[in-house]
Amino acid sequence: MLGAGPIAQAAHLDACAKGVGLELYALCDSAPDLLDAVSSRHRPTVTYTSYDEMLADDNVDAVVVAVADQFHVRLAIAALDAGKHVFVEKPMGVAVEECEQLVAAVAASGLTLQVGNMRRFDAGVEYARAFLAERAGGVVAMRAWYCDSAYRYAMTDALQPAIIRSDAASRPAGEPKADRVRYPLLGHASHLVDLARDLCGAIVAVRATFADRLGARCWFVAVEFADGAVGHLDLTLTVQMDWHEGFHVYGENGSVVARIFQPWYRMASEVECFAASDRSFHRPLCPDGDHYRRQLEGWAATIVDGAPQRGASVTDGLAAVRCIVAIARSASTGERVTLAEVTGGP
Ligand SMILES: NC(=O)c1ccc[n+]([C@@H]2O[C@H](COP(=O)([O-])OP(=O)(O)OC[C@H]3O[C@@H](n4cnc5c(N)ncnc54)[C@H](O)[C@@H]3O)[C@@H](O)[C@H]2O)c1
Repeated sequence: MLGAGPIAQAAHLDACAKGVGLELYALCDSAPDLLDAVSSRHRPTVTYTSYDEMLADDNVDAVVVAVADQFHVRLAIAALDAGKHVFVEKPMGVAVEECEQLVAAVAASGLTLQVGNMRRFDAGVEYARAFLAERAGGVVAMRAWYCDSAYRYAMTDALQPAIIRSDAASRPAGEPKADRVRYPLLGHASHLVDLARDLCGAIVAVRATFADRLGARCWFVAVEFADGAVGHLDLTLTVQMDWHEGFHVYGENGSVVARIFQPWYRMASEVECFAASDRSFHRPLCPDGDHYRRQLEGWAATIVDGAPQRGASVTDGLAAVRCIVAIARSASTGERVTLAEVTGGP
């Protein structure tokens, strides 16, 4: 585990303790006080303040890169170069070119890389995906929304463990979270875009409208999928209501309606699928809602058992970043932007 910061403490370290096929062997953080405090709770076999030293440890098979977005690509490539499989948090990177470098590095290594889009392991989303593939026929249209609640921190403070912090933590220069446009696109649109792609396939072009108004930011994005389906994505921060996330998909032979919960509740999405073939609604009960643990179990199954990769791949990670950049470009020009043409970051 690289990084003993908030996401490691709230999700990945518990996942290692509970998950099938997972064992926390090493924990690395450049902040010694944080490393000590987090290690006393999660008890790795070894600890490192130097990432290079952890990568030189032959007992490390695979690395979770749980650090700030700006560091993802460089540190993921270092792990691949050392012969380790990689799980890297979302967004995979902050610019198209560095993500392309990571695609090349994964291809050259023959190793597994999975991006931390944990919604792909939400059992409700998995049910919807299977229903769409098996029973709904072609997709006509979809819409998805990701609206962060004004009350989000009241929720997460109640649900997450007390997070230990350190002034010595390695953080990118400046304060990326203070950027009111770039940060939400990288941090939040990365989930929304990946969900749309997971359900309905490749996105080829977008046209976005942006409103920064009355204290909230809102991106409304018209989306074109490669197969001709159309979509609408809504990213809004923040809404004066409960966490508001979900999707509708209209298929040739059925439809899906889903409500997604704030992830720290660890509840699978409520999904209702209508199949024209039996004129019935299908609504699964998905008791295991720990998508964070399930995504690491899926990654381990791919590495250890050769199971097909269910999580977002390196090419999915690149495609999501391309889409985010296209949304940013379109929002500033008002023009339709194709994903193939974009360069740089949002
Ligand atoms: N999937 C989700 O729901 C979700 C939720 C929250 C955060 N995230 C993602 O998780 C990632 C990490 O978030 P965070 O809030 O934990 O970050 P953070 O920056 O607060 O913590 C990262 C830790 O990694 C350590 N670190 C960084 N570079 C290092 C290096 N080279 N060597 C050793 N230690 C190093 C830092 O000292 C720090 O303690 C981000 O990419 C974020 O977008 C995902």
